[in-house]
Amino acid sequence: MLALAGHLPSREEAIRILRSVGCPDNVIRHCLRVAKLATRIARACLRAGLSVDLALVEAGALLHDMGRARVRGIYHAFVGAEMARELGLDERLVRLIARHTGGVRPSVAEEMGWPPGEYAPETLEEKIVAYADKLVEGRRILPFEEALARLKEELGPGHPAIRNLARIHEEFKPIMGGELETASSP
Ligand SMILES: [Fe+2]
Repeated sequence: MLALAGHLPSREEAIRILRSVGCPDNVIRHCLRVAKLATRIARACLRAGLSVDLALVEAGALLHDMGRARVRGIYHAFVGAEMARELGLDERLVRLIARHTGGVRPSVAEEMGWPPGEYAPETLEEKIVAYADKLVEGRRILPFEEALARLKEELGPGHPAIRNLARIHEEFKPIMGGELETASSP
């Protein structure tokens, strides 16, 4: 596949990339749903006067799980980021993919040969994709509290992602209002 250095793929290109790297259909369906929700959150941020790169949010949401073509578990975030880098994609996408889990225990990054760190979402685009990803469960959009409870069960108490996502939720609550509760499934 040809990709320009620092390239930000269009929606169609991003979907082609998911297929070409061998992402299973269920992962692609999940990515499409996350992209739908993430772009809705991004538009709400724009309406609130925040500066958001909508194209980066959409491409990031579509590609956030590309690492699942190769590995399972938390490592898929770093593997996906490395795949994006190998494809010559925009470094902002590489970082977004690495941070989309909401945070890792620093030992995970080290095991993957990445500089040690928590990999908390930092930019608004990174936060939007990490947040949307946690809310999408199959065809449903979970209430945040339910998504957080599931995450606590999965990751165990005291995991950095739980704290980071709770902060992101507080940041988005006034922007989204009740919009997510009334949202139809993605
Ligand atoms: Fe993921």
